[in-house]
Amino acid sequence: MAISALHFYERQKLIISRRTSGNQRRYKRDTLRRVAMIRIAQRVGIPLAEVAEILALLPGNRTPTRQDWERISECWQAELDKRILHLEQLRDDFKDCVGCGCLSLDRCTLANPYDVLAARGPGPQRLTNETGNPCHPDASCRAS
Ligand code: FES
Repeated sequence: MAISALHFYERQKLIISRRTSGNQRRYKRDTLRRVAMIRIAQRVGIPLAEVAEILALLPGNRTPTRQDWERISECWQAELDKRILHLEQLRDDFKDCVGCGCLSLDRCTLANPYDVLAARGPGPQRLTNETGNPCHPDASCRAS
């Protein structure tokens, strides 16, 4: 991989190195696994900030064990499941939308994939009660 990528990962605090007397970077052996994990995460679209959060859970004072790696992998399970679901929805919705192109705010699930409140009707659904009147500031309105 490109040296510039390693330098970038280091600037992002995803990996660390030590310097030789000649100012060359040296990486510990477990850095290879960190880099592999970063690359895999990037391939599936996980932002580097999230990768950094997960890698920060690894012990810094010793070489991570298999159990350490398995533990942090579990942290991604829910995120990966969510991404798979969204990609499946995108694939299915895209079939309908590719020939349409309207990107309608009212009905396009591709343009508004998370608009679950649209099922309740138009308008500010969180700010009105069942009759469409504004909620009183002290009263709890609709459940979100
Ligand atoms: S582009 Fe028309 S419904 Fe999605």
